[in-house]
Order: sequence, then structure tokens, then C-alpha cells
Amino acid sequence: MPVTAVSGSASGIGAAVCAVLRAAGHRIIGIDRANAEVIADLSSAEGRQAAVAQVLEQSGGVLDGLVCCAGLGVTAPSSSLLLAVNYFGVSQLLDGLVDALAKGENPAALVIGSVAATQPGADQQPMVEALLAGDEARSLTLANDLGQPHVAYACSKYAVTCEARRKSVPWAAQGIRLNVVAPGAVETPLHQAAKDDARYGKSVSEFVAPLGRAGHPEEIAQVVAFLQSSQASFVTGSVIFVDGGMDAMVRAQRF
Ligand SMILES: NC(=O)c1ccc[n+]([C@@H]2O[C@H](COP(=O)([O-])OP(=O)(O)OC[C@H]3O[C@@H](n4cnc5c(N)ncnc54)[C@H](O)[C@@H]3O)[C@@H](O)[C@H]2O)c1
Repeated sequence: MPVTAVSGSASGIGAAVCAVLRAAGHRIIGIDRANAEVIADLSSAEGRQAAVAQVLEQSGGVLDGLVCCAGLGVTAPSSSLLLAVNYFGVSQLLDGLVDALAKGENPAALVIGSVAATQPGADQQPMVEALLAGDEARSLTLANDLGQPHVAYACSKYAVTCEARRKSVPWAAQGIRLNVVAPGAVETPLHQAAKDDARYGKSVSEFVAPLGRAGHPEEIAQVVAFLQSSQASFVTGSVIFVDGGMDAMVRAQRF
């Protein structure tokens, strides 16, 4: 039975990933702030270390899969918290669990990014350079100083996508696949909070994908399950948009 760790397992996309992978026969080690096999706060270095230690304990040091779903949206209490969870809460889980994955059977890891990663200008923000350099203190300060949560969100997703892609190259030599799924709008508590927000509600509600609706968490989870399965054995370092056509609508000539 494959053993897969899933962060953000208690809600939304992460919960749907757990359900689909369980149905496919995986044993799941969920990681979240509550209602999970591993209770940990991925916003701090100590919390991430505790999460890694508990996953290693519960898995016996051998993992077949890792899916990083935990994340905060534009209504997060601060831009710094958003970066801490969305970037470092992913990169440090990947780093902490790579040796366990290397011992697994047909190991595969996956990061939930976002179409927001392609937001114009996000790649040019100084906080991205700080994120990719692993400078948590500087990136968090830059994000709070900017005071624009939607830019911090786009930067966190752009940087975490770059980080997954650059890790995927050396990981391939260890036999570990690592991909990114970039959802568009998906009906979860995170998305609902953005729609209810006075600053962002109107634009989020009006930005509708060509398919004419937001996605359901299960529609993301099915693609994640495919990428984590041996059916996707030659797919690594890829960014798969699961967005109802949003990316094609905005950037038809970039891919
Ligand atoms: N819903 C969307 O429209 C959408 C679109 C693109 C990308 N995403 C991404 O999908 C992922 C899942 O989001 P969702 O929409 O399912 O949201 P959600 O709020 O339903 O679930 C997020 C989960 O992450 C957990 N989490 C947050 N902070 C944490 C912390 N400090 N430590 C541990 N766990 C923490 C939460 O407790 C929650 O269970 C996120 O990375 C999000 O950025 C969502």
C-alpha cells in the first residue's frame, strides 16, 4: 500500500486529494493545523521541523508520495504569514522528506501552485528573489512592506513553482518525480473568503474561466492522483494548469 503525506489535508483541495488517493489504495498521513494525523503549523521553521519529524515517525522513514496543498489566500492575516506557509511551508517539507521519498516505491511529489503565479510582474518582485534565495526574514519583510496581499500571493506561487521545477532536476536522478498543479478558481473555503472580501470580492467573482464556472476540489484531486500514479511515470518538472481554461484565456501565446 503506497504511503502518501498530504499537507493541508483538513480542507478544500487537500481533503479531496486525501479522499481520492485513499480510494486508490494509499495510506494517507495528513498534515494540518487540526483534524490531521500530523498536527503542525507550517508557518514557522519549528512547526515545519515538527511536521517532518512526525511524518518520518509515522511512515517509518519511507514515503511513496508527498502532496503539498497547505496554503493561505489573499485574506490571510498578513502577507508575511502567506509567504511563510505558501513558500517555506512547501520548500522545507520537500527538503525534509526527500530522503524518505528516495526510499519509496515509484516516488512522486506534487506542489499545488496557482494560475496566479503567471500574474504579470510577479516574477520581477524583489520578494521573489529573496524567496528563491531562501531568505525568509527578508522576503517576509518585503511582503509586509509592500502591503498588497494579492501580489504576495502571486509571488509565493510563482516562487514555489520555480522551486519545485528546479528541485525536479536533481530529484529525477534519484528516481523521484516532482510536478506542480496550478488550479484556477476552485470552490473551497479559501476561494469563498476571497469572494467575501471587501478588497477582492468583486474582481475574484467576475474573473470567470471559459468553462463558465469555478472548479470543484475533486476535479483538482483527480489530476493530482493521476500525476502521483505510475500512469504519469514520464512526467516530471511539469506545471499542469487545471483552471477551466483561465490560462489560455489570459495568455494564449505563452506556455
Ligand atoms: N481555491 C482556489 O481557488 C485555489 C486556486 C489556486 C490555488 N489554490 C491553492 O490550493 C491550496 C489549497 O487551498 P484550498 O483552496 O483548498 O484552501 P483551504 O483553506 O480549503 O485549505 C487550505 C488548508 O491549508 C491549511 N493550512 C493553512 N495554513 C497552515 C499552516 N500554517 N500550517 C498547516 N496547515 C495550514 C488549512 O488549515 C487548510 O486545511 C492552497 O495552496 C491554495 O493556494 C487554491
